[in-house]
Amino acid sequence: MESRLKIPLLFGQDVIHGYKTTFPIPLAEAASWDLKQIELAARIAAVEASASGIHWTFAPMVDISRDPRWGRVMEGAGEDTYLGSLIARARVLGFQGTGIGSVDAVMACAKHFAAYGAAIGGRDYNSVDMSLRTLWETYLPPFKAALDAGAATFMNSFNDLNGIPATGNVYLQREILKDKWGFTGFVVSDWGSIGEMIPHGYVANNKEAAQSAIMAGSDMDMESRAYKNHLAELVAENKVPLSVVDDAVRRVLRKKFELGLFDDPFRFSNAEREKKALNNKEHEKAAREIASSSIVLLKNENELLPLPKKGKKIAYIGPLVKEVKQNLGFWSIEMPDDSSYIVSQWQGMTEKLGKSNAPLYARGCGIADTSRAGFAEAIAVAKQADFVVLSVGEARDMSGEAKSRSSLRLPGVQEDLIKAIVATGKPVVICINAGRPLVFDWISDNVPAILYTWWLGSQAGHAIADVLFGDYNPSGKLPMTFPRSEGQIPIYYNYLNTGRPAPNDSFRFYRSAYIDESIYPKYEFGYGLSYTTFKYDNLKLDKNQMKADEFATLAIDVTNSGKYDGEEVVQLYIRDKVASVVRPMKELKGFEKIKLKAGETKTITFKISKSQLAFYNNNLEWITEPGEFELMIGSSSAKIHGKATLVLQ
Ligand code: BGC
Repeated sequence: MESRLKIPLLFGQDVIHGYKTTFPIPLAEAASWDLKQIELAARIAAVEASASGIHWTFAPMVDISRDPRWGRVMEGAGEDTYLGSLIARARVLGFQGTGIGSVDAVMACAKHFAAYGAAIGGRDYNSVDMSLRTLWETYLPPFKAALDAGAATFMNSFNDLNGIPATGNVYLQREILKDKWGFTGFVVSDWGSIGEMIPHGYVANNKEAAQSAIMAGSDMDMESRAYKNHLAELVAENKVPLSVVDDAVRRVLRKKFELGLFDDPFRFSNAEREKKALNNKEHEKAAREIASSSIVLLKNENELLPLPKKGKKIAYIGPLVKEVKQNLGFWSIEMPDDSSYIVSQWQGMTEKLGKSNAPLYARGCGIADTSRAGFAEAIAVAKQADFVVLSVGEARDMSGEAKSRSSLRLPGVQEDLIKAIVATGKPVVICINAGRPLVFDWISDNVPAILYTWWLGSQAGHAIADVLFGDYNPSGKLPMTFPRSEGQIPIYYNYLNTGRPAPNDSFRFYRSAYIDESIYPKYEFGYGLSYTTFKYDNLKLDKNQMKADEFATLAIDVTNSGKYDGEEVVQLYIRDKVASVVRPMKELKGFEKIKLKAGETKTITFKISKSQLAFYNNNLEWITEPGEFELMIGSSSAKIHGKATLVLQ
């Protein structure tokens, strides 16, 4: 309280996927499709961070992205607006708990406003050029969902949108966020983004940058020193009305009051509470559960998985098996860099199997180097085992901010190592650790079992072992489309039909096919297997015609037809067949994650109302139009198990 006006300081940090207890990277958590768990992860992060004196997290990132070359896809919820909006809401609710002002809540910050995820070429910080309809329909809804959930703050973004930097963008920050949506919190700039309007070529110097940003509605300057150095002068010269500065200041001060900092600036700093919050076994348990449900089973030929815990020898091979910190992924800031907190994949498996059945080990190669010196040992180890589990992938800092990649293949010689191990003839399971969808066509076509394990955080090793040995039956579904090759990017499930729809790849003059590549993805949005199987039948729609103020009910029976208890994400997709603007072939409009015991059947129902049938017309009005809608229920965006037609009158 040494400041002249006794204004308390605000401490903000990038608490993105956990504070000390590190949760899966946000994209991985999105693969769980489990909103309760996602909210809980944010809740725990807030409990830990707030006990350590943090008032504010720069999260959640709610940017939609259809481009896995962009390294920051790891930080969001993937490609879909509907799923992304629900996850945005869950994260805000988790961070802010019972509301800012309670000592275990941190202010959320919805970022990056807006359209940052559509950077051209997937290159971080790059320009964004898109129609306003796409902006409103695809990129803005998760921000609106965060706001409706009570997000205290917003962060603007580095990109320009249709030529105007987001930081100096009146349309985004004033017209949409503050005027139309009525946002009463404050907007912080991104790191240095006010000053970056100079190299953008939008302003000539830092003073003009300050003027442009404050007039556009950026209330707080993160790191450009533009406000500190120039705002007083700009007001004195009548270039910025004092009322504009007052409004920005009021917005920031109001949050400090709401946090209770004027009553006690140190109320979040309590060594006792911190000790308790940072050493909580319940937090570890939650992290392990969320990590297990984030894993996606991509392939499981002849039910190779789950592996037996006894009676068979396992070789655990690959550059990520014994890594410790790698498991955390990007943006883990407070996590101590040591194995007493982080469960390595090796530790997870050895604890699971016990001393009497300890796995064999070989590293094989590094993540990105080109030495094959370890191949011979890895092959020899594989030959001694009944099963081989290979843990491969990116390094944790190959995705994240400023980590765009043009090749999405496994770095280094990992793919060659895999080929050499597969050539031994031993049954191979691959765990792919990564912060984005990678391209791994050879592996998909030649390896019998594949788990996509992303970066799972401090309990990664236990979570992976739980899935490998069947203590947890995988239930994740992909929140992004996985391309066959980089040339297909951008590729996403909710594309528009063209005038030449193709029934398959051989129709060359149809749907702008490639002459050298399929137009279909390797793994589609919403895809993910289980150790059990699910059967869908008896799709029923209670009415074929619906008035705008009514709703219809779509029901389907889902049966666990396999031998393990399991979870399924039942997905509802809708297509508007004829409209005044062309509509996507499918749009996710509902889902339910259910648990079914082996043999059990549940009837799942979806209420269909006007809001799920609405879209932005060419005048940016959110409307519905009468006509036919196709309703589809699937276990992924491509595996549709039942369809019905609904007519909106
Ligand atoms: C990132 C933000 C982050 C900020 C502060 C920027 O470079 O774009 O997402 O919150 O740094 O660390």
